[in-house]
Amino acid sequence: MKKILITEFMEQDSVDSISEVFDVMYDPSLHENVERLSAQIALVEAVIVRNKTQLNEALLLKASNLRFVGRLGVGLDNIDTNYCSNNNIFVQPATGMNADSVAEYVIACALSLLKNIPISHSGTVSGQWPRTSVESRELGGKTLGLLGFGVIGKKVSRLAQVFGANVIAYDPFVKSSDAENLGVSLTTQEELFSLSDVISIHLPLTDETRDLMNLSSFNKMKKNPIIINSSRGSIINENDLLRAYKESLISGFALDVYNSEPVIEEFYKEITSSMNCILTPHTSGVTVESNVRVSQFIADKVIKFLAD
Ligand SMILES: NC(=O)c1ccc[n+]([C@@H]2O[C@H](COP(=O)([O-])OP(=O)(O)OC[C@H]3O[C@@H](n4cnc5c(N)ncnc54)[C@H](O)[C@@H]3O)[C@@H](O)[C@H]2O)c1
Repeated sequence: MKKILITEFMEQDSVDSISEVFDVMYDPSLHENVERLSAQIALVEAVIVRNKTQLNEALLLKASNLRFVGRLGVGLDNIDTNYCSNNNIFVQPATGMNADSVAEYVIACALSLLKNIPISHSGTVSGQWPRTSVESRELGGKTLGLLGFGVIGKKVSRLAQVFGANVIAYDPFVKSSDAENLGVSLTTQEELFSLSDVISIHLPLTDETRDLMNLSSFNKMKKNPIIINSSRGSIINENDLLRAYKESLISGFALDVYNSEPVIEEFYKEITSSMNCILTPHTSGVTVESNVRVSQFIADKVIKFLAD
């Protein structure tokens, strides 16, 4: 029987559906033990991971029988995709399966931060009753700038338009006619920085996008925007982000992803309850509903792939 290794959390129903046809080794904490992982990956034809398992060349060299990598999520930066394509290992992300969760998260953050809800909340629970001192704004009529107009960027644009926002996007790989059909104008990065009231990042992490948002970008932002990052931490320079907030170049930020995860103390100790910000632990794509979709999508793909 063909063997499959699952190294991080997967919905039990989906694990069970794979177990009906293949020999499954499921250990959601295996990613923490590289030695055991190296020994087990050598035995299998497929491995299923989230984002904590580092499928680097050293580990893949041990995986002499491997033909399929299933990723319970979208970003592939924890997988050496060059090694996989050179060695005939098919990599299957769960494209689009958690996009609705991320898009809802972005809108939730945009609305909360435009309304200064983190500051209202901490003022109220500390007995200050900040009824007149905290300003609140609407998303309607504001300009939302999307860096990256792929699956998630498009879903965010649709939701934001329902609130009456004007959506612009920077994505040199998308045709302007395709964006226009969705009521979105493509701009340059500089235009997006200068025109947006809210900027949300939906890019993959690559050599080109690493550190893409830095002090020079914040200095180009004319409307003291809200910044939202649910893509990958290293796309924003975190020190520059804190500096931009302290210097009022931006008026709030939401981060779901960080340069280093779990987020390091050096960063979170700078965050206080008087700041208009929301920090979450890389969970924007993780909902009860998306877990089911992502797991079953990958289960179906691995069953089909190994059956062929
Ligand atoms: N926080 C989470 O839980 C979570 C969940 C899902 C996805 N993500 C992240 O969100 C990112 C976006 O997801 P997606 O499904 O929309 O991906 P996608 O591939 O559909 O879209 C990415 C877009 O970025 C564009 N792009 C690539 N390089 C660019 C560059 N240098 N400049 C401008 N545009 C560029 C591409 O043309 C594409 O349209 C993923 O890469 C992943 O890292 C995070």
